Amino acid sequence: MARLAGKIAFVTGAASGLGAAIARAYVAEGASVVIADIDDEAGAALAAELGNARFVHLDVTSEESWGAAIATCDSIDVLVNNAGITTLGSIEECTVAQFRHELDIDVLGVFMGIQAALPKMKARGGSIINMSSLAGISASANLVVYNAAKAAVTLMTKSCALHFAQKGYGIRCNSIHPGAIHTPIIDKVLAQSDDPEALYQSFVATHPIGRLGKPEEIAAIAVYLASDESAFATGAEFRIDGGASI
Ligand SMILES: NC(=O)c1ccc[n+]([C@@H]2O[C@H](COP(=O)([O-])OP(=O)(O)OC[C@H]3O[C@@H](n4cnc5c(N)ncnc54)[C@H](O)[C@@H]3O)[C@@H](O)[C@H]2O)c1
Repeated sequence: MARLAGKIAFVTGAASGLGAAIARAYVAEGASVVIADIDDEAGAALAAELGNARFVHLDVTSEESWGAAIATCDSIDVLVNNAGITTLGSIEECTVAQFRHELDIDVLGVFMGIQAALPKMKARGGSIINMSSLAGISASANLVVYNAAKAAVTLMTKSCALHFAQKGYGIRCNSIHPGAIHTPIIDKVLAQSDDPEALYQSFVATHPIGRLGKPEEIAAIAVYLASDESAFATGAEFRIDGGASI
């Protein structure tokens, strides 16, 4: 029996990287997946490839865009707030414009997504999964904006989990905290560095397992959190980081 049979999942940032791996794993487990992304070409191509999936354009920074994308769904069982960016730099290097831009996507995008999807989830309950990061729990000098954004997602998740539990909605809300996983976001971060090779090796060195993670290793926990197997898990931080936080 497929672990997500009959479930409808809405995954943001699903055109690439972790979101694409999650969409792929969800379809393999029997879910019907809405691939939501700002990248129309890659999103539509993935939906066509996966079959039991469709693409919808979404800019997570726009309330109107959220309204239009969610309106295409009759109901939603699983919302994965995965879309995100990473700005490299310390408190002396990052600008206010960079801070606003990243928090618009990584934090406000999650807030608006939960607000928009909730009315479609209340009737039969479900699971909300927010993609935080190891950087949402522990800090790096050169990730000041990302640390602020992902820490906000960590606690927003717990606040929502408490609210849903108190209201008896049957909706769980958890966060995933990956270490460095080799996706295009890593290449974008390396491109911001003066010495990409040294930065890459520093990523590897912080993971005792001795390598970066693979997208499917994060998709596996996203399947568990979407499934009824995780019925007693809410407000929790799921770290998958090759031992980086030990
Ligand atoms: N890869 C890692 O090492 C890692 C580690 C921890 C957390 N994360 C988090 O995982 C999530 C996915 O990262 P990834 O590695 O797959 O990155 P990625 O760059 O491969 O994918 C990000 C996706 O988000 C989409 N996106 C960006 N802005 C958007 C917007 N305004 N509206 C809608 N979609 C938008 C992009 O088009 C892209 O498809 C992010 O939240 C990231 O912070 C990644």
